[in-house]
Amino acid sequence: MTDPHLFADSGGDLRGTVTYASLCAVLDHYRDSDWQADLVVVTGDLIQDDSPEAYEHFCRLLGALGLDVHRVPGNHDIRALMQAALAEPPFQYCASLQTGNWLITGIDSCVTGQAGGHLAAAELDRLDAVIAESDVPNVMVCLHHPPVPMGSKWLDTVGLDNGEEFLNRVTASGKVRLAIFGHVHQPYDADHGGTRIIGTPSTCRQFAQGSDDFAVDDNPPAYRRISLHADGSYNHELVWLPT
Ligand SMILES: [Fe+2]
Repeated sequence: MTDPHLFADSGGDLRGTVTYASLCAVLDHYRDSDWQADLVVVTGDLIQDDSPEAYEHFCRLLGALGLDVHRVPGNHDIRALMQAALAEPPFQYCASLQTGNWLITGIDSCVTGQAGGHLAAAELDRLDAVIAESDVPNVMVCLHHPPVPMGSKWLDTVGLDNGEEFLNRVTASGKVRLAIFGHVHQPYDADHGGTRIIGTPSTCRQFAQGSDDFAVDDNPPAYRRISLHADGSYNHELVWLPT
């Protein structure tokens, strides 16, 4: 799941959607479903208002699932607050996890003070090293910013400015089957050079697809179920909450 944009005030809203309530609705939908996860990945923008209290809400709500929660920062996160508030298990920050034939690894695509993202050379090198040191054949990379254009003029000015380098590296690794991201508050799913690039809508307010200018739409909160199989194949399903 991604982009919950929580506030210290649990009544706080993002463009008319109360973000605490919509995250609760997503978690309730998951709990009430017959699909059970082994872990949760949250690809950034945990909070909206720069407050430690918003991270405390996140910690309490996600911690109640009883699952490991892997997170990468988004442009609305405050790294120091995020790391401090969620420093202990089950929370993981830009971490790597090897499970079965898969490595799941998170990278930091944020630039302090900017909405758009950039992968620093050191972060790209760290990704290369993590993949090279792993002896499993399949990798899923998690980051906040989309490594490909969305076809939305305003969103593409705040995307990842070196997405091509990211794609070149993951293609060269020969192991990265999936890269998942948030940020765009809308779905995306396409193959790029053998790597599936998947964006998931927010747990709160969604942005209009293909829009030249900033615009929201009325799509409901969402999350994605991803199943990673031992043979390197995978399934994923986008779940929109019923309206
Ligand atoms: Fe966001």
